[in-house]
Amino acid sequence: MLSKLIMAILPKMPQSFVWLFSKKYIVGRSLEEAISVSQKLNEGGCRITIDLLGEFIEDAQEAMENKEAYMKILDELKANNINGGVSVKPTFFGLLLDEKMCFENIREVVKKAHSYGIFVRIDMEDSQCTDRELDMYEKLHTEFPNTVGLVLQAYLHRTMSDVERLEKNIHSPENPINIRLCKGIYVEDESISYKKYQEINDNYVKILKKLFDIKAFVGIATHDKNLTDIAYKLIEDKQISQEMYEFQMLYGVQPKLRRHTLSKGHPMKVYLPYGKDWFGYSIRRLQENPNMVMHITKSVFRF
Ligand code: FDA
Repeated sequence: MLSKLIMAILPKMPQSFVWLFSKKYIVGRSLEEAISVSQKLNEGGCRITIDLLGEFIEDAQEAMENKEAYMKILDELKANNINGGVSVKPTFFGLLLDEKMCFENIREVVKKAHSYGIFVRIDMEDSQCTDRELDMYEKLHTEFPNTVGLVLQAYLHRTMSDVERLEKNIHSPENPINIRLCKGIYVEDESISYKKYQEINDNYVKILKKLFDIKAFVGIATHDKNLTDIAYKLIEDKQISQEMYEFQMLYGVQPKLRRHTLSKGHPMKVYLPYGKDWFGYSIRRLQENPNMVMHITKSVFRF
């Protein structure tokens, strides 16, 4: 009830007020701030991945500007010797306007990243994008070995068959597929997605086992302690090398669990969203995830 009320009110509030709610989860408005936080996290033993926030784009010019902004992030990561890479959302590069243009934009980013030895993760968006993002990943994985990865979502019924498709088409010991496995954040129809907590977690574990078994690189992206506990055990039982996995968490979310995972000696990557478009992003995230509203509210009002 309280979450719904806060969600309804937030978009009408002044940005400075919403910033109070969001700042724990957004690294800052500028690239300088993102680099500075990256340096601190690197010092604390975490890798990072930077995500430039943005609203839905309307034309090719905006897609081009976003590409240029990512080129600049790559330059700064290299110049500052940051242990980390970038995460890209294909719609931000024009996926829903012109697929070919989007591919060329992302390809340029990946090409530059490859020349710098920096990793690029293709975030997974809603289900209208899934096939297109898989196709894009297959092409880039082959052209730029060990440079690019994809996200898969455990809440989708199709995800196991997507892993099998990638295994068959592009996976090899020299150039293993690199998958960030998350639960999935978008609102999907129940005909294509699991809705219940336990069903999503069961599918998560099934896919995690499969990825370990085929020797893919896995980014275990979750703040769910039930899942991190299972992952620790699988890593131990299956003797998974630290070269082949890392835990991944969002900036500001469950810092205790992050510290706990690090203290057990596991590699950790932190996802860092930044940018001047933080307002729209925050409102959307808050509307998508009512739990987050409560979480943020608790952290601000300390109840
Ligand atoms: P779950 O939702 O069960 O949460 C576990 C615990 O963490 C709960 O206590 C919950 O309240 C808390 N929590 C979780 N998320 C929180 C948040 N944002 N703020 C405050 N508390 C929170 N999704 C997607 O569709 N495409 C993508 O590309 C990505 N990329 C991605 C990268 C990384 C590094 C992470 C960690 C997550 C994503 N996600 C994503 C989001 C993911 O799909 C999922 O929605 C969230 O991680 C929440 O799921 P959990 O696995 O954390 O479990």
